[in-house]
Amino acid sequence: MSQKPSYVEECIKDYKYIFRPDLLKGKVAFITGGGTGICFTIAEVFMRHQCDTVICSRKIDKLKESAETLSRATGRKCIPVQMDVRKPETIIKAADMALSEFGRIDYLINGAAGNFLSPISGLSFNAFKTVMEIDAHGTFYVSKVIYEKYMKNHGGVIVNITATLQLRGQVLQVHAGSAKAAIETMTKHMAVEWGMDGVRVMCVAPGPIENTEGMRRLGGESIDDSYLKGIPVQRLGTREDIGNTVLYVVSDAAQLVTGTTIIADGGDWLSSSNSYHQMQQLMKKKSMM
Ligand code: NAP
Ligand code: COA
Repeated sequence: MSQKPSYVEECIKDYKYIFRPDLLKGKVAFITGGGTGICFTIAEVFMRHQCDTVICSRKIDKLKESAETLSRATGRKCIPVQMDVRKPETIIKAADMALSEFGRIDYLINGAAGNFLSPISGLSFNAFKTVMEIDAHGTFYVSKVIYEKYMKNHGGVIVNITATLQLRGQVLQVHAGSAKAAIETMTKHMAVEWGMDGVRVMCVAPGPIENTEGMRRLGGESIDDSYLKGIPVQRLGTREDIGNTVLYVVSDAAQLVTGTTIIADGGDWLSSSNSYHQMQQLMKKKSMM
């Protein structure tokens, strides 16, 4: 299947190292959703710390283009692999390809996800199922395959990218919130069962992150100055913020950190509105309701 990429991913213009530049030397990361958005930048931050990567999702043209961009900017290897997280046979093939190329997978980042705004009344049974399958089932399938094929005998770190929607029942987000809650609970189960094999399992939960598909789909254009002033850190998150947070989680600085979630949202979920009425107005304006 060949699709035309919608827009080109760009690397960070002036990356400022917080950790040692060789922090991940000799390591390999397998990143679902790594061809775009937040996970593209997680791949970039890892590669800037001397990690090689495998980026996987459904659109191979987009993955190839992103892999070239990432390798050009960082000088590291990035292998693009077509895979649907809902189809275990494609995951098994992708994991085999990664292992034959690199012989190891130290880090798994489960970032693939699907989302859109919808009231519960507007969700078909299949719409709810689709998001649950991409986010929750997908995270389970990919984790199980990578654990069994490599991490069981060699250890590693799994980082699941969740969100803050599930913390308080975000309006128009029952599908994604339910899926992210399932992932956060799955994370605890996996951390408990796989800890003795040297595997840590974590979640990183971003808040609104600028310049991402998630923001474009979930009402990002309605964010104004008064919204920003309401966020405790007074700004939106950046992809680089999330890249650096995930870098910390996989690093040895976090050796005791497992089975839990790091919320990286500048305090947004504590202070932002959760009004059904306001979101309804926004959707009507966009003719989505
Ligand atoms: P994005 O660029 O659209 O990333 C989603 C990725 O998932 C895409 O690369 C997509 O690639 C892949 N994907 C979707 N369905 C798939 C499938 N069935 N199999 C394999 N890959 C699949 O969006 P983003 O905003 O950066 O979000 C990245 C992550 O951050 C997600 O987990 C999201 O829930 C989380 N998050 C984002 C925000 C935000 O503000 N953006 C806030 C909180 C949490 P293909 O289309 O090629 O398959
Ligand atoms: N509101 C309500 N229902 C919606 C919807 C929306 N905006 N968009 C899709 N759906 C429904 C579809 O109508 C379909 O249900 P139906 O068969 O009962 O009609 C169901 O969801 C599945 O849609 P489909 O387009 O067949 O699924 P897909 O597997 O091709 O794509 C999506 C999955 C819908 C999540 C798609 O948006 C996607 O690929 N997203 C990836 C990128 C992304 O979401 N990034 C943001 C991450 S935060």
